[in-house]
Amino acid sequence: MKRHAIHATIGSLVLAALASTSGARPAAGQSAAPSLDFEFFKTRVQPIFVAKRPGHARCISCHIDGTPLRLEPLPRGSTTWSEEASRKNFETMRRVVMPGNATKSRLLVHPLAEQAGGDFYHNGGKHWNSQSDPEWQILKAWVLGDTKRGSEQR
Ligand code: HEC
Repeated sequence: MKRHAIHATIGSLVLAALASTSGARPAAGQSAAPSLDFEFFKTRVQPIFVAKRPGHARCISCHIDGTPLRLEPLPRGSTTWSEEASRKNFETMRRVVMPGNATKSRLLVHPLAEQAGGDFYHNGGKHWNSQSDPEWQILKAWVLGDTKRGSEQR
């Protein structure tokens, strides 16, 4: 328990520091939440669920069945989903993000290492050690609605 508390404190300090320096989109007024970009989700976010990371199973190895968060099955041998399946995936993932707020989006903090601002535990492991990881930046761009500028800059 103590360890939890300490980690939570460190986590929030990191978050606070990031929030004050990143110049990220402010949550200016609750109603200003950006809308989520489907095309960006389809072409940039979905490949992350399929990608192999050293030391980890792919997101889709678990998140097709057996977890509360279910992606559509990927046809054998295929690395992309159909338009229709992508729409369903989009709706599924919409439930685990908070548009405009990367660090309150479970999709971003659950697989992110705790010392990088992630949450305490993800049964599927910590796939990203830093918020500057290019994949994490793509997820962040999606959640912030920053999809037109690309995801390279911070
Ligand atoms: C080894 C299996 C496994 C892998 C690989 C895996 N996960 Fe998970 N994930 C789980 C399980 C089991 C849960 C539910 C228990 C938990 O929250 O830890 C979960 C929970 C989650 C949740 C929270 C869902 C909710 O409804 O709150 C998110 C978001 C998530 N995973 C995203 C991912 C992403 C993104 C990847 C790939 C980068 C990934 N997971 C890889 C097993 C996995």
